[in-house]
Amino acid sequence: MKIPLSNRLLACCGYVRPSDRVADVGCDHGYLGIHLLLNGIASSVIASDVNQGPLDSARRNGEKYGVLNHMTFCLSDGVKDIPQDFDCLVCAGMGADTIISILSAAPWLKDSRYRLILQCQSKRPELRQWLYDAGYAIERETLAKDGKFVYSIMEVVYAPEQSISPVETYLSRQLLESRHPLLPEYYQRVKQGLTLTVEGMRRAQDAQLPVYESILTDLERWEDKIYGNCT
Ligand SMILES: C[S@@+](CC[C@H](N)C(=O)[O-])C[C@H]1O[C@@H](n2cnc3c(N)ncnc32)[C@H](O)[C@@H]1O
Repeated sequence: MKIPLSNRLLACCGYVRPSDRVADVGCDHGYLGIHLLLNGIASSVIASDVNQGPLDSARRNGEKYGVLNHMTFCLSDGVKDIPQDFDCLVCAGMGADTIISILSAAPWLKDSRYRLILQCQSKRPELRQWLYDAGYAIERETLAKDGKFVYSIMEVVYAPEQSISPVETYLSRQLLESRHPLLPEYYQRVKQGLTLTVEGMRRAQDAQLPVYESILTDLERWEDKIYGNCT
């Protein structure tokens, strides 16, 4: 039986390593974990959600697809009430504020034995900055498109010596170097958003305007590389 998985969630699965023990936090329907088990990628899945309804639905789906014996279900706000014996944490389909509050509440995740797969729906620059401030670093970043939306998916590890520049919080170096076919489209969207921010600040005579103008200039410097004119 084939699972109805979006390109976004398939891209998250692409960062899971063979035999990983996966914790899918905010699992909702549970399809990500079920796909990983059906395809022999993950060895076990902790499916967790803060709401009982989604958790029940994940359990029903696990049963329907015959993978219940490799799944554990946890009603938990973030990772507060889940077992810590996993390799890879997935947080997908959530906004930056929720992801940041989940990671802030679990300093034990600051350990090189864990890898985090994050797919953030909003305020990605804030999330990237927060990750580096907290000692995490982006190892790889990729893109996926469903309908008209282009999503970014990050693989994050604990690496406290690393830093990120302001422009990289908008478009990470890892994504730039990925040469992903969706990169030009993603770049255009990021640039459009940043241009609107700068225009708004200009009208409001915001004191932070020079900072954002400089980020936009730095971003535009990458244009040749993004469109393949440079190596
Ligand atoms: C939009 S759905 C995303 C589901 C799935 N991960 C995906 O990407 O398709 C967000 C899910 O996260 C759950 N959620 C929200 N805040 C949470 C938290 N603090 N801890 C655990 N789950 C949370 C919601 O109940 C919901 O099921």
